[in-house]
Amino acid sequence: MSLVPMRILLDHAAENGYGVAAFNVNNMEQIQAIMAAAEETESPVIVQASRGARKYTNDAYLRHLMLAAAELHPNIPISMHQDHGNSPATCISAIEQGFNSVMMDGSLSEDGKSPSSYEYNVKVTKEVVDYAHARGVTVEGEIGTLGGIEDGHGAGLTGEEALKHLTDPSQAERFVADTGVDALAVAIGTSHGAYKFTRKPTGDVLVMSVIEEIHKRLPNTHLVMHGSSSVPQELLDIIRMYGGYMKETYGVPVEEIQRGIKHGVRKINVDTDNRLAITGAIRKVFSCKPTAFDPRDYLSPARDAMKQVCIDRMVAFGQAGYASKVKQVSMKDMVTFYMGK
Ligand code: G3H
Ligand code: 13P
Ligand code: ZN
Repeated sequence: MSLVPMRILLDHAAENGYGVAAFNVNNMEQIQAIMAAAEETESPVIVQASRGARKYTNDAYLRHLMLAAAELHPNIPISMHQDHGNSPATCISAIEQGFNSVMMDGSLSEDGKSPSSYEYNVKVTKEVVDYAHARGVTVEGEIGTLGGIEDGHGAGLTGEEALKHLTDPSQAERFVADTGVDALAVAIGTSHGAYKFTRKPTGDVLVMSVIEEIHKRLPNTHLVMHGSSSVPQELLDIIRMYGGYMKETYGVPVEEIQRGIKHGVRKINVDTDNRLAITGAIRKVFSCKPTAFDPRDYLSPARDAMKQVCIDRMVAFGQAGYASKVKQVSMKDMVTFYMGK
């Protein structure tokens, strides 16, 4: 089975009422951690790489690592996704490298920072949809702009600015009609990174009701939650205990993600939690074994710590147990599927 178009994973998740975690990767150990967790829980998986990850890893290494994952885990359906493509060129180069799913994030301009116009977003996203669907590749778009609502916290937009950029459900409906995306990332007050909320979030800063409204209007569109790390306090504590510094911070509670899954969320992006787990494990080795210098001495516990986070999310999002139930569909069949639409 192995490499499966993301659209097939998300359709299966929708039919069976579960969500699929999309974990970011930058190196071999992270891919191994995800695959070990998927084996243990029998989960289909989405592995995603940002532009920064592709640059850090080099596409050729990444491609071969993913092919190794597919070869070693033939019973696990895997989608390989470009996270936050900033331009059609980035998405096209990902497709050329074998990614079977891409995100065209036209909510931001090509600099990946400043919010763009609706017209720009439709133009670049539609361009990617036309190119990708002709090759059987899945496309995720984004409407609204990610950012924490609490002043002074979260990456990118904050406060009033972030509130203004929450996804407008009627615009979401129009965007899907105008572009034909398979999946839609929505802005509900989450932001990337560890510093999302200064307290356990309530509905004024994590606006889950927006998801419910969008799902009512777009029951057949797969919704995506970005910035969905839960920032577990125990992972922060490990980092602090072994010499690291993390300010007080809160993430997106797993129960809120589960609520989203009941209302059409099918892909949940998680990167920070794995970064925290890896960092804590490495700090612990360095602190407890000052003589250690074999990278395997600290990368193995780091990989195990990430694996545990992945297992926890796979179980909580409901994807565990479904690996063997997803049917393989070739890219050629996907082209036929899209052309028939
Ligand atoms: O989009 C956010 C992900 O956490 C990836 O982060 O751009 O630092 O690789 P990155
Ligand atoms: P976190 O920073 O919350 O893990 O979000 C990751 C993400 O949205 C990647 O696109
Ligand atoms: Zn994101």
